[in-house]
Parts: sequence; structure tokens; C-alpha cells
Amino acid sequence: MGSWVALPDKAPPTSSLEEIFAEIGGQPNSCTHEEYYAFARRVRMLAPCALLVFGVGRDSIAWRTVNEGGRTLFLENNGKWIEKIGTEIGKEYIRALAYQQVYEEWEATGFSPEAVPLPELEHAPFDHRWDCIFVDAPWGPTFGRHQSTHAATAAVKPGGLIALHDCERERELTVCRVLLQARGFELIEEAERLRIYRAP
Ligand SMILES: C[S@@+](CC[C@H](N)C(=O)[O-])C[C@H]1O[C@@H](n2cnc3c(N)ncnc32)[C@H](O)[C@@H]1O
Repeated sequence: MGSWVALPDKAPPTSSLEEIFAEIGGQPNSCTHEEYYAFARRVRMLAPCALLVFGVGRDSIAWRTVNEGGRTLFLENNGKWIEKIGTEIGKEYIRALAYQQVYEEWEATGFSPEAVPLPELEHAPFDHRWDCIFVDAPWGPTFGRHQSTHAATAAVKPGGLIALHDCERERELTVCRVLLQARGFELIEEAERLRIYRAP
């Protein structure tokens, strides 16, 4: 007869989500608290996990804390923000990437999913190994989020989660429809402007 060993319980997190996001949320260019909590609760259920975040900002340190003990990596295209947030969280947690295709160029292809290039970066982590991915970049009026979301679908593991912010906008709704829903991603939660999808 086989013997079994009881696994130790997961260590409880050191801070609550309310504490982690107390100083952020609701400012211009940020998510609201409800939006942060919706995804952070799901990351917490899996933490320590592999968390990939498109975009840095005031919330970067919070995501590292939510995924305490896990691997959290940020991808950012704006050098100014890499410098600024790098001094807060450590530059080793941020990788620079470049987007090449503006939204209008993708639109001109008739929103072909095959026409979306992956963003450029060395040792791209688009390897179907990430548990949770948060897409809140690039900044709205610049490139559009089709490239970052496409990259997220290449990075997430089967059954993993992708959250996309600013889904009240026409562009992000198209991204959801063409690059997530049509590829079998299931919408599992909506919190204000945030949508959370599960990978097939
Ligand atoms: C919607 S912002 C992401 C903001 C971030 N989630 C936060 O908590 O502040 C998308 C991009 O804008 C830039 N950015 C970051 N923080 C910003 C801020 N406070 N104001 C304006 N742009 C910001 C970065 O290049 C980032 O990738």
C-alpha cells in the first residue's frame, strides 16, 4: 500500500490587497481598485506563480507584492518609464521591448490575426509558460494593444489567465474579439474596464 505525506499549507500572504493597492488605483492612467482587486485575487490564488506584466507604472511594485515569492517580469517600451520605475523595483525586473505596428496598420489588413507581429526583444518570453498576464500597455494613444495581447497569447500557458485593461474602448474590444475570443479564450470575469480571459 502506498504511503502519502501531507503537504504544508501555502504560507499566508504578508499583506492584504487593500494594503497593497492603498496608495494606487483610480488615478489617471491607472486601474480602479475594483479592477486591480479582480485580477490580483486570481493571481493570489495561484501565487507564487509566473506573472508577466505589459507596462510599468505606479502599480508595478504592487504586482510584485501580490505575487510574493513568484516570478514577476515587466515588459515596457518607454525608456523614460523604465528608468523611473526601474529605480523603484529594480531594473532587472523590467525588459525593454519595441512595438513595430501601429493600430491603423493592423486595421488596414482587415484585422487579420496572422498580420500581427510579435514585439521585438531579446530572449522574448513568449513561451507558453506564464500563469498570469496583465496587459495595460502600450499607452492607449500610441500603438494599440494588438501586439501586446498577441504576445500574451503566445506567452500564457494552457489554462492560464490574460487580463486586458481599457476594454471600454473600441480598439480593445476588437482586440478581445479577434485575438482572444476567436482563438478560444474564455471570458471569465469583467470588472469595470478590465476583462479576464482563460486560455484554452
Ligand atoms: C496605462 S499606462 C500603465 C499605467 C500603470 N498601469 C500605472 O499603474 O500607472 C501604459 C503605459 O503608459 C506609461 N505610463 C506608466 N505610468 C504612467 C502614468 N502615470 N502616466 C502616463 N503614462 C504612464 C508606460 O509607458 C506604460 O507602459
